[in-house]
Amino acid sequence: MGRNNFYKILQNELKRIDHAKVAKRQEKVIESFTGSHFPSAVINGKKYSIFNSNDYLGLRFADKLRQAEEKASRKYGTGPGAVRFISGTFSLYKELEKAVAGFHLRPAGMVFSSAFAANLAVIACMSKGQSKDSLVGADTLIISDELNHRSIIDGIRVAGLAKEQKQIYQHFDYQSLEKILKENIGKFKRVLVITDGIFSMLGESANIGKLEKICRKFDSEYNEGVFLITDDSHGVGAFGKTGRGAEEATGGKSDLLIGTFGKAFGSDGGYVVTDKIIIDYLRESAATYIYSNSISPGTAGSALAAIKLVDSATGRKLLKRLNQNIALFKNLMIKSGFIFAADSIHPIQPVLVADPVKTKALTDRLFGMGILVTNINYPVVPKGKDEIRVQISAAHSKKDIEKFVQKANLAAKSVGAI
Ligand SMILES: Cc1ncc(COP(=O)(O)O)c(C=O)c1O
Repeated sequence: MGRNNFYKILQNELKRIDHAKVAKRQEKVIESFTGSHFPSAVINGKKYSIFNSNDYLGLRFADKLRQAEEKASRKYGTGPGAVRFISGTFSLYKELEKAVAGFHLRPAGMVFSSAFAANLAVIACMSKGQSKDSLVGADTLIISDELNHRSIIDGIRVAGLAKEQKQIYQHFDYQSLEKILKENIGKFKRVLVITDGIFSMLGESANIGKLEKICRKFDSEYNEGVFLITDDSHGVGAFGKTGRGAEEATGGKSDLLIGTFGKAFGSDGGYVVTDKIIIDYLRESAATYIYSNSISPGTAGSALAAIKLVDSATGRKLLKRLNQNIALFKNLMIKSGFIFAADSIHPIQPVLVADPVKTKALTDRLFGMGILVTNINYPVVPKGKDEIRVQISAAHSKKDIEKFVQKANLAAKSVGAI
């Protein structure tokens, strides 16, 4: 009886997870990094090449970011002290928000502790109703791509909307999105259309240009309009000619853009850029901002340095290098007999194995050969689409990529994956 019973339930649940071979808690423990151009991870004293990181430009090891981080923590301390509305904010955070808004050509920006926290806030606040005793209005309809990131799914859950206020369109099926928008005219005052920019399982980009047109087409049909909200966490910094992400690559603009500093920007924390009035409203109402600390000053310092670096000649060179690496990788992999689960031009490259056992065996074999990649299986991807997800960085050398393909070829042959 009592708490012991609950512990038993937990034990059984963990056993079930282990038995299903989907456990996540046995994380690989990286003791250190070694090497200079793109350090290898050291695990149990052995060196591993990193092909499973979102650090698409290699910025987390850049001197400029490390120096900026140190300078910021020397100036402002190692932590924020309290949430911003209580102990005040630092000029550095204001500078960072201005810089990230400017980078995305928006009037205003706001920093959150993570993109996850930003999504929770944006979705809850943007779907609020107007009556003062109701946190959630029956006024808003949310329409979401079926493969959107967990933080969007949870954002919609946390917003506490009624069933009829939530609609999902099939992945990339913009015709069915239009149909939902048409069918709901007169039923709701406001619509939020929400999509990932880059979908992280296959490296595919949403067509923000197309989505913007659809949203604009229906805007005046709804009393409070149709808002396009894009979370481009995997796109910002790494995708598009100048690293402005899926918007730049597909020629569109969202009403609210969410991003992270924790991937291509090599730092940490999330952000939203949009019109000033929405930012002002979010600062008044976003729970994950008002009741939760911001990123640390050092993190803000490195994020600011990252934006400046990406938006410079060095950044352009890194993006060029990244795209060359992606092209080289695809070319060599195809020559080597691999096929891809999608034709991605993003650093996320999904190598199709189409069998969960072989996918896991291939990932394990590559680990044995000193390479870190991720296996992605059903139900995260549809049955038969099991893949190893390879993540390319501008910091990889030509030799790193050639070595990877050689080892992948040997490993795949040994497990019957090619
Ligand atoms: C689309 C998307 N949104 C949000 C996140 C979370 O970003 P953060 O680590 O800043 O919370 C991720 C990371 O996996 C993501 O892929």
